[in-house]
Amino acid sequence: MGWPSVKSLLWSLLLFVQIHEHRACIEEERMGLLELKAFLKSHTNYTKPFLPTWVYETKGGCCRWERVNCSTTTGHVINLTLSNINEENLYLKGTWFLNVSLLQPFKQLRILDLSENGIAGWLGNEEPVNLSNLEVLNLSGNHLNGSLLFKGGLLGGLYM
Ligand SMILES: *[C@@H]1O[C@H](CO)[C@@H](O)[C@H](O)[C@H]1NC(C)=O
Ligand SMILES: *[C@@H]1O[C@H](CO)[C@@H](O)[C@H](O)[C@H]1NC(C)=O
Ligand SMILES: *[C@@H]1O[C@H](CO)[C@@H](O)[C@H](O)[C@H]1NC(C)=O
Ligand SMILES: *[C@@H]1O[C@H](CO)[C@@H](O)[C@H](O)[C@H]1NC(C)=O
Ligand SMILES: *[C@@H]1O[C@H](CO)[C@@H](O)[C@H](O)[C@H]1NC(C)=O
Ligand SMILES: *[C@@H]1O[C@H](CO)[C@@H](O)[C@H](O)[C@H]1NC(C)=O
Ligand SMILES: *[C@@H]1O[C@H](CO)[C@@H](O)[C@H](O)[C@H]1NC(C)=O
Repeated sequence: MGWPSVKSLLWSLLLFVQIHEHRACIEEERMGLLELKAFLKSHTNYTKPFLPTWVYETKGGCCRWERVNCSTTTGHVINLTLSNINEENLYLKGTWFLNVSLLQPFKQLRILDLSENGIAGWLGNEEPVNLSNLEVLNLSGNHLNGSLLFKGGLLGGLYM
């Protein structure tokens, strides 16, 4: 094999590795998901393993975790399907508040499903949460009321 073909082989390999890494997940978002998991877990009386695929690992990444979808082109998390996260009715329904600051790492988020969780309101939005790419926000099946929905803080054009 001549030098040019070795060189192009190396380039393809490099490109492959980069694309592969890209799709694995964005480090900041992986840490963000783990923080979110820790927060959710602390509000749970769980008996079953909680989000068992959400574990730190050096290989692979958060794009293959349950309830997470990434963009195939950018590798950013674009959907978080966190509906009925309390599968066994183990959250203190109606008494817990989600820290929305924990959603800030996911700047490319388009679909956020928080339905059926008994969320009563929000914490941690002293700083506005800016999710400017959000297209779908599903809050059905929670214990929110109007005053709690509009607390001040930008979330995809919605003030929470
Ligand atoms: C677990 O559930 C019980 C009964 O609902 C409640 O008193 C307790 O505070 C809960 N613990 C946690 C950590 O949520
Ligand atoms: C999105 O995530 C869900 C849950 O992990 C998964 O079942 C589904 O295959 C994913 N969709 C795509 C297009 O990756
Ligand atoms: C999430 O994003 C994927 C693209 O990766 C899309 O195909 C899928 O329909 C979305 N899932 C949900 C639950 O909206
Ligand atoms: C909410 O989460 C952010 C980011 O982790 C943290 O800095 C803040 O202290 C939390 N706020 C509350 C009220 O838990
Ligand atoms: C929200 O973030 C987007 C980019 O992610 C930025 O263009 C926009 O100006 C920000 N909006 C506010 C009110 O900070
Ligand atoms: C919102 O969530 C509920 C319960 O999970 C579901 O039935 C409904 O179809 C969702 N709505 C949208 C617009 O995704
Ligand atoms: C909304 O919930 C808050 C906190 O539980 C309560 O103080 C307020 O009166 C409720 N507002 C309405 C319109 O139900």
